Amino acid sequence: MTGLLRPRAMGTPLERRDGWAKVTGTAPYAFEHPASAPLYVHPLQSEIARGRVKYIDAHAAEDLDGVAAVLTHENAPRLATDSDPELWVLQSPEIAFRGQLIGAVLAETPEIARHAAGLVRVEYQQERHDVVLRENHEALYAPDVVNPSFPAETVDGDVDAARPEVVVEQTYTTPMEHNNPMEPHATMATWSNGVLTLHDSTQGVHVMRSRIAPVLGLKPKRIRVVAPHVGGGFGSKGTAHAHNILAALAAQVAGGRPVKLALTRQQMFALVGYRTPTIQRVRLGADRGGTLSVVTHDVIEQTSTVQEFAEQTAVGTRTMYAAPNRRTTHRLAALDVPVPFWMRAPGEAPGMFATEVAIDELAEACGLDPIDLRSRNEPAVDQATGLPFSGRHLAECLREGAERFGWAERDPAPRSRRDGDWLVGTGVASATYPRHAMPGSTAAIRRHDGRYEVRIGAADIGTGTWTALSQIAADALDCPVDDVRLEIGDTDLPYATVAGGSSGLGSWGATVVEAARRFREKFGTDPDDGDEADAAMPDNPDAQRYSMHSFGAHFAEVRVNADTGEVRVPRMLGVFSAGRIVNPRLARSQLIGGMTMGLSMALHEHSVLDPQFGHVINHDFAQYHIAAHADVADIEAIWLDEQDPHSNPMGSRGVGEIGIVGSPAAIANAVHHATGIRVRDLPITPDKLL
Ligand code: MOS
Repeated sequence: MTGLLRPRAMGTPLERRDGWAKVTGTAPYAFEHPASAPLYVHPLQSEIARGRVKYIDAHAAEDLDGVAAVLTHENAPRLATDSDPELWVLQSPEIAFRGQLIGAVLAETPEIARHAAGLVRVEYQQERHDVVLRENHEALYAPDVVNPSFPAETVDGDVDAARPEVVVEQTYTTPMEHNNPMEPHATMATWSNGVLTLHDSTQGVHVMRSRIAPVLGLKPKRIRVVAPHVGGGFGSKGTAHAHNILAALAAQVAGGRPVKLALTRQQMFALVGYRTPTIQRVRLGADRGGTLSVVTHDVIEQTSTVQEFAEQTAVGTRTMYAAPNRRTTHRLAALDVPVPFWMRAPGEAPGMFATEVAIDELAEACGLDPIDLRSRNEPAVDQATGLPFSGRHLAECLREGAERFGWAERDPAPRSRRDGDWLVGTGVASATYPRHAMPGSTAAIRRHDGRYEVRIGAADIGTGTWTALSQIAADALDCPVDDVRLEIGDTDLPYATVAGGSSGLGSWGATVVEAARRFREKFGTDPDDGDEADAAMPDNPDAQRYSMHSFGAHFAEVRVNADTGEVRVPRMLGVFSAGRIVNPRLARSQLIGGMTMGLSMALHEHSVLDPQFGHVINHDFAQYHIAAHADVADIEAIWLDEQDPHSNPMGSRGVGEIGIVGSPAAIANAVHHATGIRVRDLPITPDKLL
């Protein structure tokens, strides 16, 4: 990159520009956009996991006062193509997983729609299903690539010929987990003047439009997607799901009336993706001094029979530590389950749990401090690509964290600290997350009424885009933030890429900076009202020359009740290297949010799939446990003061996901230190500690 942007607004802890609207209830979420005389949609879902619908009797529902229509595969409007099977909704009686959409009721109120849905009688022709991932599953296969386009396998050296003095070889498992953003997935669909408008809760209005347009057989310009505010997504809103198509189909039969569809929390457990369960075999071989000679990471995960999604579980391991002999593989079984998808740091989050616990086990086997062991295996270049890192500051993160956390006073012997009924321990783990940049965004800047209108179809999923992107624009235009009027979240704005892979702010920011440069070039520093310029995100030649990753070090203290096995986490510290931090207030919120989700993953989150019926049993907040305030005591995130000269004009690398990577391992390692028990299966529930 040439010429990093001079930070003035960037780096300041500006409060959210949309904060006032949010806390006063005037920021509209998808379901809340005003609509005249809407109909409400309640989905019908399959009660079997595999087979077909034999017969649907909707008479009782249709006869109910206030019911406008009942849609099924028999009467739904036809879609244009079946090339996107997850979105092939109500087009056939075939059923590929329990909870699949088989119909919908349209009614005058949500209550009537829901009641009527319960009156629809369905007969099925049921087939045997298989929803259980097993290590020796007969259907395991190797995908061509893993999400989004990493090779599924990598081999360096000869892992079988090496003769390490110390070997750790273990199986680690992580469960199926579900994203539960505060705002459920919701869509309001309206047909008007030949244009379908979706007010949707999405991480990317344009990617939503591009995916649904061919399915609906519409030119993209005949679809508008609007999402100014989004109440969290964590990946689950990173693409269209079946309910978006259901809403569009419902709007087609609604006679011009808008239709509103909000999934219930329970429906979200079948319809909007989830983190695949994983079975991970990790082998680390080293000499007695802890220098690695072998690293293997073999992953088994699931996908659906509907569509393949292959999580990139082992990719973090490829980048993490030096070793001459290395192998990573991914194998999938296609089961009769919903399509898995992104969940915060898909790949790195479950994968680095395995690797970073294994590293802790190796340190124990070598009699080394785990920080020391990690430092001995720092690679000179990225082992995955052979490229130099744009900045690899893992060792500094570990050092800084150790000092602040008081690591030096730690007695490494497990079960060496006790406070009354509580066993106390501390643990450490590393984090890595790639700096993704997504090409394709465009931004437009216009001078209007003494301010700059900055227009780009970006998303704010609660991360702070409204604020941080305004800060970037202000620095790029050399003006106060108050002089920037940002517009995001609408396909009527210039094309923007998805808020995913921690790529959003970096990609949109680079685009806005380029548009500002063009604007200045054309109009100088004293523009006239109406002056306008636009630009696409420029190529970054450094992307081919450097491996760009963020790094982090997690420290956790745990207390485990000796009698009950209850785990408390009184203290967590994350130290991150993520390039320039555009807004410290928002970045801290992202990082401690990720760490909290890591704590949640370590101790609670587990979607329990019933093998007999094929559904998630604990599909609500009463039963699917998520870390709450009472779980989090002293949690802090800090970062190294740095900028990445190669990532983008801001020097940033993204902070949305790295907080969750490694934090579950730090807790598991602390639990081992407290109890002497090595838990290799998440979540770490009390039964595993007794
Ligand atoms: Mo993030 S899971 O890439 O939206």
